[in-house]
Amino acid sequence: MSKELENKGIERIVITGCPGTGKTTLAEELGKELGLKVIHVDRDFIKENDLGLGFDKDRDSVEVDLEKLEDFLKGEKAIIESHLLCEIELKDALVIVLRCDPSELRNRLEKRGYSEGKIRENVEAEIVDYCVEKARENYSEVHEVETTDRDVEETKQKCLEIISEV
Ligand SMILES: Nc1ncnc2c1ncn2[C@@H]1O[C@H](COP(=O)(O)OP(=O)(O)OP(=O)(O)O)[C@@H](O)[C@H]1O
Ligand SMILES: [Mg+2]
Repeated sequence: MSKELENKGIERIVITGCPGTGKTTLAEELGKELGLKVIHVDRDFIKENDLGLGFDKDRDSVEVDLEKLEDFLKGEKAIIESHLLCEIELKDALVIVLRCDPSELRNRLEKRGYSEGKIRENVEAEIVDYCVEKARENYSEVHEVETTDRDVEETKQKCLEIISEV
């Protein structure tokens, strides 16, 4: 982490939000801008670090051992991104939850070729504020950033503003 952030008690930047809200894209951009390590907690990461419990065929998703994941990530000083991060507690984290209007989110997920079931599950999670509610249970302060009418650059700028104001 940069000295400036560490002086403010921030050891890691956590980026979470429903699938398709733009976490991976934003984390890369922020990592370049701030010169920080970026950890993508995606399927490969779960596999490589043996953090999985099995594969749920119906939901086409990997079941993750959240306790193990929390333990694995707790010492990492980096930008960490995943929809799973709203489910765990990491100390000294600046938490950003990306948001997206459901119809735009549907467009993004359709472009990925997701099944209707998987699109619906993710869009419904966004509609009921799933990630942000969970994040509020697990972290003392949570910053929501809207991506619907912002491009990647504008989203990054908004996050830099939040980071500089903490
Ligand atoms: N700020 C943004 N504004 C508009 N579109 C964006 C933005 N960020 C990402 N996108 C687009 O939305 C799609 C999803 O982005 P991305 O893969 O970064 O999402 P994600 O949150 O990492 O999803 P997942 O949780 O499934 O990994 C991509 O097509 C990307 O180009
Ligand atoms: Mg991603």
